[in-house]
Amino acid sequence: MAYRVVPCRLGDAEAIAVNNMTAFWDDITWRLTWMPWKDSEGIEHPGVPLEELIARGKRRYPWNLLKNRTEVRETKAVDENGKLVGFARWVMPEAHTNAWLDAQVPDASVEERDRLKELHASTTWNWRKDMNPIDDPVSKRQRSLTQPGCPELDFLAVHPDNARKGIATVLVRKGMQVAEELGIGIFMLAFNCGLNVYTRLGFQLVDQIIQDDTIYGGEGNYARYYLRLDPARKLDGEGNPEPALSEENGDDKEI
Ligand SMILES: CC(C)(COP(=O)(O)OP(=O)(O)OC[C@H]1O[C@@H](n2cnc3c(N)ncnc32)[C@H](O)[C@@H]1OP(=O)(O)O)[C@@H](O)C(=O)NCCC(=O)NCCS
Repeated sequence: MAYRVVPCRLGDAEAIAVNNMTAFWDDITWRLTWMPWKDSEGIEHPGVPLEELIARGKRRYPWNLLKNRTEVRETKAVDENGKLVGFARWVMPEAHTNAWLDAQVPDASVEERDRLKELHASTTWNWRKDMNPIDDPVSKRQRSLTQPGCPELDFLAVHPDNARKGIATVLVRKGMQVAEELGIGIFMLAFNCGLNVYTRLGFQLVDQIIQDDTIYGGEGNYARYYLRLDPARKLDGEGNPEPALSEENGDDKEI
C-alpha cells in the first residue's frame, strides 16, 4: 500500500493520541513510567493503563498541536483511505521558522486556544517521578550535542498494527527532503526501535547512552542514540540516501 505524508490539523488530535500512546506502549522503559510506584514518602501511586493514557492524550493533544506552532511542524502518514497510520513532529531551527509552513497546524481563535489550553492543563499526566533521573544524563548530553540551525525530529510513532510497512521511513524521508531543500542537516535523539530506520536512511550515530533500568523494573538496556544527518548528503529521486556514507568519512563521534 502507498502511504502519503500530509500536514496535521487540529482534528487529527484524537487519532494522533491513539497512534502515539499505543506505539510507545511497546517501548519497555516508556511503559514502565506508567506502572504503579511508591514515592520517597512511601505513598503508593496507581499505574495508568494504556486505555486511560489514550483518553488523557485525546484531551491533551489539541493543545500540544497548537502550543509551539511557530517552530513545530506536525505531519502524519495516511493510507489510501486517508486514515492516520503514523505521526512525526519536527522542530524547526530559529532561522527557518518561516519554512515548511504547510506543516504548521493552523491556529485556532483566541477563545478556542484558551479552551484547549485549559483542557490540557486539567488533564493529569502523572508519570512515575522516581524514574526522572534516568533521563537526566540523556538531556544533559543532548544539550551539548544539539546542532543549532538544524531541524530536530522530535517525535516519531507508528501504531504496532501498521508496523514494518515502511511508514516511519516515509515520514522521516519527508523531513529529510525539507532539510535538503533548505541545505541544512537534521539532529535527533532516537530510541532503540527507531535506530535502524534512521541509519538505513543515512543518519550517522554521533553518540549513545545505554543505561541499566532494572532498578525500575526494566530489562537493563535503556538505550538512547544521538543521530545527525549530514547537510551535504544527497538524496536520489526517491528520497533515498545515495550512496551510503563512506566509512572513511565517518568518525561517528565528531559532529
Ligand atoms: C520505530 C517505529 C517508528 C518504526 O515504525 P515502522 O513504520 O514500523 O518502521 P519502518 O517500517 O519504516 O521500518 C521498519 C524498521 O523499524 C524497526 N522496527 C519496527 N518495529 C519494530 C519493533 N517492534 N521492534 C524493533 N524494531 C522495530 C526495525 O528496524 C524495522 O526494520 P526491520 O523490519 O528490517 O527489522 C515504530 O516501531 C514505533 O513507533 N515504535 C515505538 C515508538 C518509538 O520508538 N519511536 C521512535 C522514536 S526514535
